[in-house]
Amino acid sequence: MGRRAIVIHPSRETLLDDAAVQIETAIDTAVRARGRALIVLTGGSTIPPVYERLARSAIDWNRVELFWSDERCVGPDDPDSNYGMTREVLLQPARVPDANVHRFDGEEPDRDRAARAYAAEIEAALVDASRFDLIVLGMGTDAHVASLFPGHPLIGESDRWTGAVLADRFSIPKPSVDRLTLTPRALHATREVLLIVTGAKKAPAVHGALGSVRDPLQWPVQLVDGPESRVTWLLDSDAAAEIEGEL
Ligand code: 6PG
Repeated sequence: MGRRAIVIHPSRETLLDDAAVQIETAIDTAVRARGRALIVLTGGSTIPPVYERLARSAIDWNRVELFWSDERCVGPDDPDSNYGMTREVLLQPARVPDANVHRFDGEEPDRDRAARAYAAEIEAALVDASRFDLIVLGMGTDAHVASLFPGHPLIGESDRWTGAVLADRFSIPKPSVDRLTLTPRALHATREVLLIVTGAKKAPAVHGALGSVRDPLQWPVQLVDGPESRVTWLLDSDAAAEIEGEL
């Protein structure tokens, strides 16, 4: 396992400020070292205020390639689209060049074709870089990351970069639509992971995942501890409520 840091913030606001700073720093470090930054973004409802902060930053987006950890199989104008949310709060306000935006094709009815097409886009991007610079993730109350839900076979996927989770075969939390997702192989292909978790509802999953038992099938968030990744867990005090005495 690579290095792991757990940072507990007194409030959601200070956590969101710190998350934006950490993402900016990772981008700046990558651009200084290699001229470009390859960043994987998350979806969900926690992250938009962080993207709003980034949209006001001095980041040179011409040097940043953006990817997503997962996508709901809806169109880009659907309110459930992770890409659509990011386009509204970050891509358009910051004028991120379209050529630097690599989204899943959530509209492709053949979900496996969509997943494989995205894998090809990732492989093309990693030909020179070999791995992402940063993967930003949220975590569900069931300890899922990306769209790797507890018990799903993709949790054991070590060959493919991406996969599809089908709502007619697997119980998917709201929005219960087909999903496209990075696999553990992709989640491990990064220098850094930033995991952003807020709120009391997530405290049990944080406690279970950071416990002594390693069982990614039950606690998919444990997958983020890739062998060579530096992982930072950003928690607010509510999300950390069940572990504070144990660190
Ligand atoms: C998604 C996300 C997902 C999210 C977690 C946390 O498509 O929903 O990629 O992995 O990060 O479910 O979501 P919240 O931030 O809304 O709690």
